[in-house]
Amino acid sequence: MQSLYDSFGRKHDYLRISLTERCNLRCTYCMPEHGVDLSPKDSLMTRDEILAITKVFVGLGVNKVRLTGGEPLVRKDFGEVLASLSKLNIELALTTNGILVDRYTSVFESVGLRSINISLDTLSPNKFFEITRKNDYHKVVSNIDLLLKMGYHIKLNVVVKKGFNDDEIIDFIQWTEKENIHIRFIEFMPFDGNSWNLKELISYKNILEKVREHYGIEKLNDTPNSTAKAFSVKGFKGTFAVISSMTDHFCQSCNRLRLTADGKMKNCLFSKGEVDILTPLRKGEDIEGLIRSCLHQKQYKHGGIQNILKVKKNDSKLSKRSMILIGG
Ligand code: 5AD
Ligand code: SF4
Repeated sequence: MQSLYDSFGRKHDYLRISLTERCNLRCTYCMPEHGVDLSPKDSLMTRDEILAITKVFVGLGVNKVRLTGGEPLVRKDFGEVLASLSKLNIELALTTNGILVDRYTSVFESVGLRSINISLDTLSPNKFFEITRKNDYHKVVSNIDLLLKMGYHIKLNVVVKKGFNDDEIIDFIQWTEKENIHIRFIEFMPFDGNSWNLKELISYKNILEKVREHYGIEKLNDTPNSTAKAFSVKGFKGTFAVISSMTDHFCQSCNRLRLTADGKMKNCLFSKGEVDILTPLRKGEDIEGLIRSCLHQKQYKHGGIQNILKVKKNDSKLSKRSMILIGG
């Protein structure tokens, strides 16, 4: 079977599947303040449909699948979805806000999921409320501690916003001194309804400058197709990385495909176009051609947006999906 290549010769073998449009947090950079209109339940992928679609992708060379959302763990049958996908010959990964992970550790163990990405943007309970509009800071932190004690490989996603948490970069890195945790500072990206503003963007160069004012750091090797530039402070147990999606994109080595909870394929986080995979699957039609043609339309960078730093509020260049409906 011919693998999935786009028109720039990039091989695509990594699929990110959003399991739900719902979330138990309401992060300002992800979910519009007024909320989102959820799709009717019968237009969302069932567990069997997720498995069937994933099998087709795996047949086309996909070897890694990340489950995202919304918050994937709010899905009632999350355990069953994970168990069914774990039978495929793929690396399974998970991105979660951490609130419910303690309920699922035995499920993770049973499928051998040992690496989890958790979102946490601040080490202050008050600021946690400000950014997520919920009071779950202590729950998230105690769950991170639990997973670390159990020996999980934890990557912490920190969206950096000027004036909000840029003064906490050093505190996050301090966490890596004694814990084998991996902190990833992510440049703030614009999505529909998230009131992105260039003034709030802290570039990865700025982040590294701030770190270098405090610590001697060394560059680590990055894995192929990695979005993160990894570093460590000499002598610290953990590591940190910057994800420079905005100011130094890594689109040239992109291998990522996305499937939304309502079964639409997107060839890029920023693509406006999407291809309905679920409806044809339900009609018993072949979806391989749809997958290939969706990938063929992939633009070289940022979904075809010329200068992403110049995007305006409600810009027509952006997809009409907010981040929560795309899947992180
Ligand atoms: N900019 C950068 N990262 C974002 N995420 C969500 N919205 C944004 C944004 N606007 C990241 C969060 C979360 C993951 C699912 O996506 O860090 O961990
Ligand atoms: Fe929920 Fe994640 Fe979006 Fe926050 S970023 S609202 S945790 S899906």
